[in-house]
Amino acid sequence: MNPLLSRLQPYPFERLRQLHAGVVPNPAYAPISLGIGEPRHATPAFLKDRLCEAIASPTGGLATYPATGGTPELKKACAAWMQRRYGLGLDPARQILPVLGSREALFSLAQVVVDPRAFAGGIEPVVVCPNPFYQIYEGAALLAGAEPWFAPSDPARNFAVDWASVPEAVWQRTQLLYTCSPGNPTGAVMPLEEWQMLFELSDKYGFVIASDECYSEIYFRDEAPLGGLEAAAKLGRTDFKNLIALTSLSKRSNVPGLRSGFVAGDAALIQSFLLYRTYHGSAMSAVVQSASAAAWADEAHVADNRAQYRAKFAEVTPLLAGVMQVSLPDAGFYLWAAIPESFDGSDEAFSRELLANYNVVVLPGSYLARQAQGFNPGAGRIRMALVAETAECVEAARRIVQFIQSQSH
Ligand SMILES: Cc1ncc(COP(=O)(O)O)c(C=O)c1O
Repeated sequence: MNPLLSRLQPYPFERLRQLHAGVVPNPAYAPISLGIGEPRHATPAFLKDRLCEAIASPTGGLATYPATGGTPELKKACAAWMQRRYGLGLDPARQILPVLGSREALFSLAQVVVDPRAFAGGIEPVVVCPNPFYQIYEGAALLAGAEPWFAPSDPARNFAVDWASVPEAVWQRTQLLYTCSPGNPTGAVMPLEEWQMLFELSDKYGFVIASDECYSEIYFRDEAPLGGLEAAAKLGRTDFKNLIALTSLSKRSNVPGLRSGFVAGDAALIQSFLLYRTYHGSAMSAVVQSASAAAWADEAHVADNRAQYRAKFAEVTPLLAGVMQVSLPDAGFYLWAAIPESFDGSDEAFSRELLANYNVVVLPGSYLARQAQGFNPGAGRIRMALVAETAECVEAARRIVQFIQSQSH
């Protein structure tokens, strides 16, 4: 067996399952889960229709192997979206590659980029990750033979990641850096100055930046979140050297089961990624490609989806802000809240007791972060995924308010 497998950490939802084992939820309340960040708004009907039509197609259906590089139709639709959304003129043939959702691409990209033999004497290369973070980054780093290094997000700076905390000796070993903007779970969007800092570090130390942008279309400010490639172009870096952006239809179009996204950026990196993926066997079904092209071409359903999240967050956030430290994030579909002092910083106890008393599931923040440089930046926080319909999220918020009020008496 590959010994690196033993370095993988249990997934946050597995830890949550164990935390809640043996808890008897109060039967007076119907169960509500704000635990898992899986989109639950309706999948647009036109996408389901397009899938059915594509299955029936004599040329593009299920009867042939799809090419790993993707159909020109899909890649053109992705490039056209990048043009409309970010004002970028990408070459669909060289700078865009379809992937089966961003998760597998975040993982497999590390296997392409990391060279575990780069340093003599058994010294491992480093993959820098935000903290808290999406756990795939860590697993990808470990299985590629690298050591993950965690840079904490700073609540005092709207949860911006403290990249400056990474020591020089760590940067010297860094081959890959993951960034997530809008962030999961913080919802923070990276401004241009932060991008500039990362680009300068990437130039100095030669590492690749993987920009996870799967929440880019769910935002609460007037201005849409800045994309990684957009930031590069604004700074005159039009070759996108060492930069790859990963995006997805899962949240944008409410199709987490479709498994569809794409990566864009540095043409040389994309070429190596395509080579790897050809062997890995991760070609997207022609049926999915056809529906995906239709999804990227339509913005009306995305605006409608965003409006639903905006209305929901506008109702739920003020309720919770009355009893705990929480505010409307820049973007994403999570509330990242500090638990009240009466819980002594135990996000696990908060989650367990909330389930026992009010039958509401929330994810302890410490499960989404690692203890690094002496602290766990998720401790004392909870993540609430507002993915259910508004009425259910409002009901959950009311119960959380009652729960906190009952604890402080
Ligand atoms: C930060 C982040 N990146 C990537 C993903 C993966 O999404 P998908 O593979 O559906 O594109 C998720 C899913 O929850 C996520 O939260």
